[in-house]
Parts: sequence; C-alpha cells; structure tokens
Amino acid sequence: MKLCVISGDGIGPEVIDAALQVLHALSPELKIETVIAQAGWETFQATGSALPDTTRALAEAADAVLFGAVASPSHAVPGYQSPIVALRRALDLYANIRPTTNTGLPVASGQPPVDLVVVRENTEGLYAGRERLTDDGHTAIAERVITRRGSERIVRRACELAMQRGQRTGTAPKVTIVHKANVLRVSDGLFRTVALEVAQQYPALAVEELLVDTAAMHLAQAPQRFDVIVTTNMFGDILSDIACIHGGGLGLASSANIGERQALFEPVHGAAPDIAGRGIANPLAAIQCVALLLEWAATRPEHTEAEQVVYDQWAQRLRAAITTTLHNGPHTPDMGGTATTMAVTTAIMKQL
Ligand code: NAI
Ligand code: MG
Repeated sequence: MKLCVISGDGIGPEVIDAALQVLHALSPELKIETVIAQAGWETFQATGSALPDTTRALAEAADAVLFGAVASPSHAVPGYQSPIVALRRALDLYANIRPTTNTGLPVASGQPPVDLVVVRENTEGLYAGRERLTDDGHTAIAERVITRRGSERIVRRACELAMQRGQRTGTAPKVTIVHKANVLRVSDGLFRTVALEVAQQYPALAVEELLVDTAAMHLAQAPQRFDVIVTTNMFGDILSDIACIHGGGLGLASSANIGERQALFEPVHGAAPDIAGRGIANPLAAIQCVALLLEWAATRPEHTEAEQVVYDQWAQRLRAAITTTLHNGPHTPDMGGTATTMAVTTAIMKQL
C-alpha cells in the first residue's frame, strides 16, 4: 500500500513524526510504502501554492494519505486556499468519519460508555466554496449546495457503518439524521428526504432525526444516547468538535476522509501555534490515525483476505496499546500530565 505523508505546519510535523515511528514499528508484513509531500502555509510562502501540483499528484497516486495539520490564516490571502479542503475535493473523499469514545479514559462509575461516530458530508454544503461579495461590496453571499447524490452516498455510508458497528458489538444499531430542515427548508429539506429514504432500506436500523441545535445540546449533555450521527458538512464540523470533548479533547480526536478508492487520515486538531516547537503536543490523535488507516486497509477489496486479516490484527494491537497508554500514562499536558510527545510515543511502541 502506498501512503502519501503530508505533515504540514506547527505541531503537524511533530505528531506525524510520532505516527510514522509507530507505523514503522509495526510488522514489515504490512508492506506500507511511504512518500513524503509538502503542503500548508510554509509551503505557500516558499512556493506560492499551499498545495503544489507535485503534492496533489503524489496524493492522487497513493492509496491513502496521512495528513498532519496546516496553519490557515483567518483573513483572505490572495492565492491561498486551504489545502485540506482542496485535497478532500480533489480526491472526492466524501465521507468524513469522526469517532469519539471514552474507552481508556476515567469515567464516573455507573455511567454507560460514550462510543459514537459523526459521519459528516465532506464535499458540499456550506463549504462548497461558493462565496461572493455583491458589486457594492456590502453584501456577502454563500451558497449552500445539497445534492441528492451527495446526500444519498453519505447516508448510505453512515447506515453501513452503523450496521457494522452493531455486528461487532452485538448492540442494536442506530442512526441519527441531523439537519435544520425547519429553517433551511429547501436544502436541508432535500437532505432530510433523501436521508429518510436511504435509512428505510435498513430495517434493522433504529432511525431518528434531530434538529442540529437540539443535537448539539444532547451531544454536550448525553452523548451516550448516540451511535452514528449523519449530517451535512458544516454541522458535522461543529458537532464533531463538541463530541470530541467526551473523548479526551482535541489531542485525542482523529478522523478518516473516505472516498470510493482512497482515504485520507488526519487528526481533528489544527497546527496549534501556541504549543508548536515545544515537543509537548499530544501524538495520540495522529497515532490513532494509523489505527484508522489499518482498519480501512482491512476492508479494501484490493487486499487479499489474508492481508486484510493482518491489517485488522495490527489495528487491534495498536488500539490496545493506545488504550493501555491512556489508562497508565504517560500523558501530555493537555491531558493533565507532564510527558513529552516522544515519551508518549515511546510508551505506545513498548506496548506494541
Ligand atoms: P488548534 O486545533 O490548532 O488548537 C486549539 C487548541 O487545542 C490550542 O490551545 C492547542 O494548543 C490545543 N491542541 C490542539 N491539538 C493539540 C494536541 N495534539 N496536543 C495538545 N494540545 C493541542 O485550533 P486553532 O488554534 O483554532 O487553529 C490554529 C491553526 O490551525 C489555524 O491556522 C487553523 O486554520 C489551523 N487548523 C487547521 C486544521 C487542519 O489542518 N485540518 C484544523 C483546525 C485548525
Ligand atoms: Mg473542524
């Protein structure tokens, strides 16, 4: 399997270095060949492009991408475009899968565990890139693009995931469709109609719908009630950051961006300029990306059944090593500890 590695800016290179150390410590049986590519703010300053054509070509030629984080300015910079948004679109990685669990974390006794996944549409919605100013410059307009095709494939992906999770854990699978169709009657009206149509094709699934604001409250207050949440692009972006609080915060949150043929794995966090260069970034989000990569590889039809088994076994070993390290430490400062990025990485490798 060919893996294109893009570290990016800030703590991106620090956490990706940790993830690569772990990846290389896994079995050579896995036959993962890495190729390094550049993107981000520093790349933009050096080359005039945040996502140079060479990087795009390397990502397109790879089976999967491991992405750190990039620093994107909040003000408009001529010629600068967020490379991660561009990559998701270039590779048509339509499903952004963001799991949150509190496995391995201290939990108040008597509380059921949190184990949920936000499945976020990744290519359209309010992030479709259709923004403009009127000629007088006094009105800004963003178009929210919702298509039947885009809605159908993301909801199908969510339903399939819920069914797989149900099979694995032996619990009744549930999908929560999140929208704001009471206000966005046309765009979320279409998303809701298509979502309910698709979900109906899975009779074993419990299906509910929630308005996004209500979903945000429940996600903050009672995350245990959720299994798989499926929603449009921006709602999923925001809800997944709320969800990640229950999984130990941003330093632990990882995501998979999945298309038909390829996938890109990235921590949910950004470049964290406030702690960059100090060697104290939590590497666990990036290391969990390796587990997500192995789990994805275990499902790919281009791998033989024997290869799929090996990927799955190493994914499980890595998950176990992460859980043990979460439980026993060491922990980086964001989790209340004093350990460095390297100390946590070394602890994981010892477990492996
Ligand atoms: P951020 O995620 O970089 O940081 C938010 C807070 O969480 C900071 O206090 C940071 O120190 C902490 N944090 C994040 N990751 C951590 C880790 N692994 N270990 C310990 N603490 C961690 O978000 P922020 O500050 O809003 O954005 C900073 C820059 O990152 C911006 O330029 C933004 O555009 C970019 N960004 C990039 C993303 C990406 O590449 N996918 C995603 C989010 C933000
Ligand atoms: Mg986000």
